[in-house]
Amino acid sequence: MRLSQTLFGVDFQNPVLLAAGTCGFGEELQDTLDLDALGGIVTKSVTLEPRAGNPAPRLVEAGNAMLNSVGLANPGLERVCAEKLPWMKEHLSRIQVLLSVAGHTPEEYWRIVEGLESVGGFLGYELNLSCPNDTRLGGVPFALDPDALTRVVQGAQDLTDRPLLVKLAPNVPDIGPIAEAAEEAGANGITLVNTMPGLVIDIASGSATLGAGSGGLSGPALRAVGVHAVHRARAHTSIPLVGVGGVSAAEDAIQYLMAGASLVQIGTATFADPRTAQRVARDIARYGEKMGIEKIEDLIGTYQAEHRPVPVSEAR
Ligand code: SIN
Repeated sequence: MRLSQTLFGVDFQNPVLLAAGTCGFGEELQDTLDLDALGGIVTKSVTLEPRAGNPAPRLVEAGNAMLNSVGLANPGLERVCAEKLPWMKEHLSRIQVLLSVAGHTPEEYWRIVEGLESVGGFLGYELNLSCPNDTRLGGVPFALDPDALTRVVQGAQDLTDRPLLVKLAPNVPDIGPIAEAAEEAGANGITLVNTMPGLVIDIASGSATLGAGSGGLSGPALRAVGVHAVHRARAHTSIPLVGVGGVSAAEDAIQYLMAGASLVQIGTATFADPRTAQRVARDIARYGEKMGIEKIEDLIGTYQAEHRPVPVSEAR
């Protein structure tokens, strides 16, 4: 099966990307995996100022999941422009690079986009509007407030011709209308979903196991939530979708593709096996060959929600 596809005007050699916050800026994983074998990467979120991050421990187990509160640790805009972008330009020319951007205010997002634009050398942006560990000043994350989301996206669109994706949060009653608001604001793509807010308490000490208290839940427990979010967003929008949450095998990625995602991201699973993304891409191709599917586009969005009416006799 042909895995490559054209999206946002460029070629993705396969549909598997590494998720924001799990691969640094690529350089950090260069000795561990073959970055050229990926569809692309999404960098750690870039903030205006450097962030040291939250107190340890930043990652803990939470049943069939992981809970994190890293606190957006990153070198900040200036050093990303001076050190990370030049490295990525030189070493990541075969794969697609999206820069994740996070801020406390709309103006912070816009200043970061402006700064990154002045250097260039990457495909586009994934606006992180949904970090559960570092909320917007004076409010809930932007992704929980369609008006705030619209303001950030519209302002960022005015500053760049590059594709602008927005990353949404799972903890909303219905993600469909939020995805619709993102498209109407000018987003070129939507990533679904960020982690789910969670808390693990150590009952011996009565304290949270994470240094920061609560955090964001990821891993297998998030997968069905993510697949459902993609399915709902697909029903409300026509722009490309990117599925993330609980992908560790081709079977997981294929669910996202069938629900309507054009690309998938691997996050938590990379921590256990850094070569997960390569394996998932290879096994998607094997699945396609087994099923007689010629190209990845023929798999995307093939899930149709079934309407199963309850027979009248059973409903009584
Ligand atoms: C973090 O750095 O705390 C996580 C970022 C995110 O989930 O958006």
